[in-house]
Amino acid sequence: VEIDQPLRDLAGRRLLVGTAVDHAALTADPVYRERIATEFSSVTAENVMKWESVEPERGVRDYRAADELVAEARRNGQRVRGHTLVWHNQLPSWLTTGVESGEIDATELRGILRQHILDEVRHFRGRIYQWDVVNEVIDDEGELRDSLWLRELGPGYIADAFRWAHQADPRTKLFLNDYNVEGLSPKSDAYHRLARELLAQRVPVHGFGAQGHYGVQYGFHSAAEVAQNFARFEALGLETAVTEADVRMPMPADTVKLQAQAQGYSVLLQGCLLSRRCTSFTVWGFTDKYSWVPGFFEGEGAANLLDESFAPKPAYREAQAVLALA
Ligand code: G3I
Repeated sequence: VEIDQPLRDLAGRRLLVGTAVDHAALTADPVYRERIATEFSSVTAENVMKWESVEPERGVRDYRAADELVAEARRNGQRVRGHTLVWHNQLPSWLTTGVESGEIDATELRGILRQHILDEVRHFRGRIYQWDVVNEVIDDEGELRDSLWLRELGPGYIADAFRWAHQADPRTKLFLNDYNVEGLSPKSDAYHRLARELLAQRVPVHGFGAQGHYGVQYGFHSAAEVAQNFARFEALGLETAVTEADVRMPMPADTVKLQAQAQGYSVLLQGCLLSRRCTSFTVWGFTDKYSWVPGFFEGEGAANLLDESFAPKPAYREAQAVLALA
């Protein structure tokens, strides 16, 4: 097998290999742009499809940045994952302040959510193969997350969101998505129960996405455990996906940490490949030049497959090797 091939070529038809795309970098950095085109068969907007980006002012919808990203993907023959319709973060401030001040009551809020989902999913209709409909709706204890959505609308907002999304684009695959659900845990148990309940109510849920944010200092699951976890969701009839893989480390990086990082990526990729219906494997950024990690975890970084100069790290070589065998 020719190992020095782009990830998308090594994956072939077995699986879509994706990355999150930073829209600003896509516009400003030709090396970044070129590398996305050659390396990946799927892309996810890192921020520009989120509610604060697409409806910055109430009733003023702005899909320009997201449209550029989708157009670029089309030119590259790539599929697009939609991220994300319902989340507790990156909500427009008109919405959060409106709810907090009592100006927007529960009835109005439900209508606003419905309109947001119908509008955005319709806008991209036919161009998104998987949508993260609800993101991070269960907490680490396995309870429904205490969010604006749960407080104002009650637990039914989850089923509603899937039904509205399905109404707007009946062919796109609708996903639950969260972090800390790669392996077997109370949190992934809770997702399994939620998925089962939704399906029992004939709610159109089609997939379960595990984000895959790892850190070398915390250790990883085994590939077998990830596959066992995915298998129980697949047994319900769902697709699975790794949607936001990255493996951060305490800085500075060194060869030992970089080796451990390669293992973290390997586990997630192998876990997906060991699963019958794991249809996409997406990394949350591919170069350390643009990464959310240093801004969120003080003293941590170097979470991606390529370094700041786009040079391959051991994790990239590992991903190539795993895909070459698949
Ligand atoms: O766009 C503004 C810019 O105008 C401003 O000058 C700048 C100053 O801070 O901020 C910019 O917004 C930032 C935005 O990313 C776009 O770069 C926000 O501050 C920053 O908080 C935001 O972070 C994003 C984060 O979600 C927000 O929660 C990260 O880029 C993004 O990678 C991250 O992605 C999430 C997934 O959606 C869900 N799963 C976890 C994952 C990592 O947190």
